[in-house]
Amino acid sequence: MTPKPTPSPPAESTDRPLANLEDWEQFVVTRYPYADRPADPAKDKDAYRNYDTPARDTVREFYRQNHAHQTYDFVLAKEREFLSFDRRTMTPWEAFDYLNTLVDDSDPDIDLAQWDHLLQTSEAIRADGHPDWFVLTGLIHDLGKILCLFGEPQWAVVGDTFPVGCRYSEKIVYPEFFALNPDSQVPEYQTPCGIYSQHCGLDNVHMSWGHDEYLYQIMKPYLPEPALYMIRYHSFYAAHRERDYDHLMNDHDQAMFDWVRAFNPYDLYSKSPQPPRLSELRPYYEDLLAKYLPSTLRF
Ligand SMILES: [Fe+2]
Ligand SMILES: [Fe+2]
Repeated sequence: MTPKPTPSPPAESTDRPLANLEDWEQFVVTRYPYADRPADPAKDKDAYRNYDTPARDTVREFYRQNHAHQTYDFVLAKEREFLSFDRRTMTPWEAFDYLNTLVDDSDPDIDLAQWDHLLQTSEAIRADGHPDWFVLTGLIHDLGKILCLFGEPQWAVVGDTFPVGCRYSEKIVYPEFFALNPDSQVPEYQTPCGIYSQHCGLDNVHMSWGHDEYLYQIMKPYLPEPALYMIRYHSFYAAHRERDYDHLMNDHDQAMFDWVRAFNPYDLYSKSPQPPRLSELRPYYEDLLAKYLPSTLRF
């Protein structure tokens, strides 16, 4: 994945990009196969075989970087750097067009990859008759990936998220790489609750930095709370799938995570062989964006 016009240099020379920004999401699907899918031994065998391909190595390298560099101080610095929203002002539609300047290097025929994923997610939610704000959440949930276009390395944009400032769950993918994180040498950060208190609520917890937190902070004034939880925690698999952060969550988080769990299958499994046609759907989505969002957003 590179920005189409003038590619920004990676923030660090050690950043080895995934060939495709969606590689890590495909990897999540491999980790959490669709529960309702009937077992298909041939396909499953292929999935296992793919697990050991070079694509898997780039995912592994991606997580090595992510786990090594996402320290508590790094997260606070990124929050200071990006949450002043002084980079660009765009209409919601301009933001989608901007996101879609991210193209997939490995597939020159598809340069609407970002749109495809967002529209397939939102259309699957709409087809199931969910409220319109849920549909809108499907449409926008990955808009924060425009961080890549601001020159951020992929390990600081996508991937599973996790709390910083406290002990890492063994349920986080590739937990062994946390040994490379300087925070693992800070005793204060290595108790179960670390700098937080038991059941303090996730709003008091700093999450590893990426597109989830960034977009949540942009959308905070405009969307219903379940939508905000879906956006903010959709990559927090150690909590919404593995339920391994109950000690930090309060009762309200637990209730809201039912929504995060309701959203997750649409994010992971809504890839259809017939991608929705943007031109046909555009009027519906323009109305939906106008219903909830202001005419311009600050990024
Ligand atoms: Fe995402
Ligand atoms: Fe997504």
